[in-house]
Amino acid sequence: TVQPTPVPSSDLVLPPPNYFGPQDCYNFPEDFMFGVAGSASQIEGAIADEGRAPTLMEVGFQSGVMANDYVTNENYYLYKQDIERLASMGVKHYSFSIAWTRILPFTFPGTPVNKQGLDHYDDLINFVLQKGMIPSVTLFHFDTPFAIFKNNLTSLKERPLIGYVNGGYQMDGFEDAFVNYGKIVMTHYADRVPVWYTFNEPLLYSTNGKSVDAVVKAHARLYHFYREEIKGTGKISLKFNDNFGVPRDPNNTDHLNATNHFNDFQLATFCNPIFLGKDYPEAFKMTIPDYVPLTEEDLKYINGTADFLGIDPYTATVVEPPPQGIAACAVNSSDPLFPYCVKQFTNTSTGWDIGYRSESYVYITPKYLRTYLSYLWNTFKTPVMITEFGFPVFDESKRAVIDQLYDSPRSEYYLSFMSEVLKAIWEDHVHVMGAFAWSFADNWEFGSYESQFGIQFVNRTTQERRYKRSFFDLVDFMAIRTRKK
Ligand code: NOJ
Repeated sequence: TVQPTPVPSSDLVLPPPNYFGPQDCYNFPEDFMFGVAGSASQIEGAIADEGRAPTLMEVGFQSGVMANDYVTNENYYLYKQDIERLASMGVKHYSFSIAWTRILPFTFPGTPVNKQGLDHYDDLINFVLQKGMIPSVTLFHFDTPFAIFKNNLTSLKERPLIGYVNGGYQMDGFEDAFVNYGKIVMTHYADRVPVWYTFNEPLLYSTNGKSVDAVVKAHARLYHFYREEIKGTGKISLKFNDNFGVPRDPNNTDHLNATNHFNDFQLATFCNPIFLGKDYPEAFKMTIPDYVPLTEEDLKYINGTADFLGIDPYTATVVEPPPQGIAACAVNSSDPLFPYCVKQFTNTSTGWDIGYRSESYVYITPKYLRTYLSYLWNTFKTPVMITEFGFPVFDESKRAVIDQLYDSPRSEYYLSFMSEVLKAIWEDHVHVMGAFAWSFADNWEFGSYESQFGIQFVNRTTQERRYKRSFFDLVDFMAIRTRKK
């Protein structure tokens, strides 16, 4: 028999005694909501089934790209399997959106409610609960009913002024139609859904001052309806997009001013009235001169209409001022969302990468998250929920399946981000309520399946799902770091 060679004691390499600092041992509070997220148009498929009417997604801005690609994950039919797979991983919270055109195919107030649509989400919510999980519902995640545009035919040609796409918020009838839809959905599911979001990333989908006005007012109307008319006891917010800027040179005053301006525009535009009862910030008024002013009465009505602040902090945005200075750029720019010469180190097709590089292709920016969380807590004085965060691997779907499954950069992203969340909670005393990984599975990233965000792989031919390594790493990390009673 072969004897093991004894290791001379001088060769033993022990970790240094202070290898783990105290910050490496923080736990999440027991009520921390860890979950995963997806959205209707990105996973459901079945776009013409059981009464669903078209959205902007299929016939509007992306026509042509969409038609054949829109099978997505067939989650409309496979939702039980999807929920079961999350439950098996010990995930407690599931965040999804409801498709307006399934509930109200004719979109507008007074038109019939589609029972099959309503029944679908009834079954879905009941199944989530049956599996011991808790649903969070977004009323509107980019899937504007096409009818909104049909009613405003001239506007179809409008070039988006603020955001990437035109969500139709500024169009005649949008606000009332959305509030009517929201009331139907809330009334029907309020008994089982404790967390609600009215709008997903509204700034990205706004085209002018009227859009922002419609979003803020529709949101406030639904909040009042939920609290005062149906006496809802859950929590309501919106999900804001991830553009939190950090200065390219923190020692340069111009860079700092540009960054403050950028962040005010991105966040205070909605958060001033909703969380502080304060008017829109100067950054917004200056950039969007056609904005609709809020009256004292509006501000009273809007103030306090969210119970926490939802953010989607994927990655940092590096800001520096344009050569002419902020004002010149803001007033003259034809694309006022990015008047500050925002620079992103674009390495991936989705342009999402700033920070340190992981495995030579993508950047990860955990430290910015901690800064961002403190900024929100100190500025808007309200608990924060990380409603989405995730990591797109460049052209992931073109890699060998085995490489897609062993997605260690994504694990690195999630664990480093969650570690910063712990520091924000225990060292900066920020009230972070929870965090939702985007996305629970690879899905349709608005026109593309190439760069993916999923913690599960989806075979586009067979619809088979497989867990990726990052999903195991993330749930392990959360299980180890969650305080038990
Ligand atoms: C945020 C959006 O809400 C979601 O729909 C999208 O897939 C992710 N960002 C990644 O781009």
